[in-house]
Amino acid sequence: EAFDVVVVGSCMTDLVSQAPRLPKAGETIHGHKFFIGFGGKGANQCIQAARMGAKTAMVCKVGKDFFGENYIQNFKDNGVSTEFVGQTVDSATGAASIIVNDAGENAIVIVAGANLLLGGEDLRRALPALSHAKVMVCQLEISPDTSLQALRLSHENNVKTIFNPAPAIPDLDPEFYRASDVFCCNESEAELLTGVAVASIEDAGRAGEELLRRGCSSVIITLGSRGCVVLSAHEPSSPSHHIPTKPVTTVDTTGAGDSFIGALAFYMAHFPTMSLEEMARRANQVAGVSVQTIGTQASYPSKKDLPTDLF
Ligand code: RIB
Ligand code: NA
Repeated sequence: EAFDVVVVGSCMTDLVSQAPRLPKAGETIHGHKFFIGFGGKGANQCIQAARMGAKTAMVCKVGKDFFGENYIQNFKDNGVSTEFVGQTVDSATGAASIIVNDAGENAIVIVAGANLLLGGEDLRRALPALSHAKVMVCQLEISPDTSLQALRLSHENNVKTIFNPAPAIPDLDPEFYRASDVFCCNESEAELLTGVAVASIEDAGRAGEELLRRGCSSVIITLGSRGCVVLSAHEPSSPSHHIPTKPVTTVDTTGAGDSFIGALAFYMAHFPTMSLEEMARRANQVAGVSVQTIGTQASYPSKKDLPTDLF
């Protein structure tokens, strides 16, 4: 059975408090709402791809606990294959404590737990899916070794790879770049990886050029409300392309980058000949819908909620 999109990555239960602002160290403040949702960058990206109509599978590990059981049901409810979702008694399902302020900004602490136990044995079991997928997506909320192994396996089998180095780590193994068909990160991750301060669209272009030099085929740097920049090694003479996005009223930006990547994975699987710029333009629009409602996956649109010209 061949999947459009296989994600090797994280699942987290999001514990979200909405408050007027983010608290300072040692401070207690009143928030106005609390809710529990499904999150984790890997799962978020997989769910967004599935909601757009991609045939998806998730390769991940949760705990043998209440959050883990719930998460498996969430995948089933969204039509994601759970064949490669493992459950462990050795650690708890990953959890993310999130605070969202009135400007829609957030601060997040993740305790990856069971996610860190996803390893080589799990990848071996998922190898048929990994080597036959149209697109494989990885992030850094699982062990970096596992992500790199998954990227390597897929890349060797000519599966298109998207790597999202989030949350970013300073000394990323250089092989990550070479195994990435599309290296997609946000401005702060680009800054941490390249040392180029990313305050403007031009800066993002410069950081993108440095990432290209490290060996990725294409680079996308997402810039929040300013859209993204796209660079490709196949057009070395051409500068970065800035893809703007329509202004929207922002309620909660948590997981907007994941919505973008999930949508991008869908486009790469379903429209393999479409230009990366056009895919990024459409993925911007999908992510733009997600920021207008509270919650992470809870705010991700399905195909039926989106304009038909996005398909
Ligand atoms: O990218 C957003 C995600 O980051 C949240 O869902 C949270 O779980 C953290 O992993
Ligand atoms: Na949202």
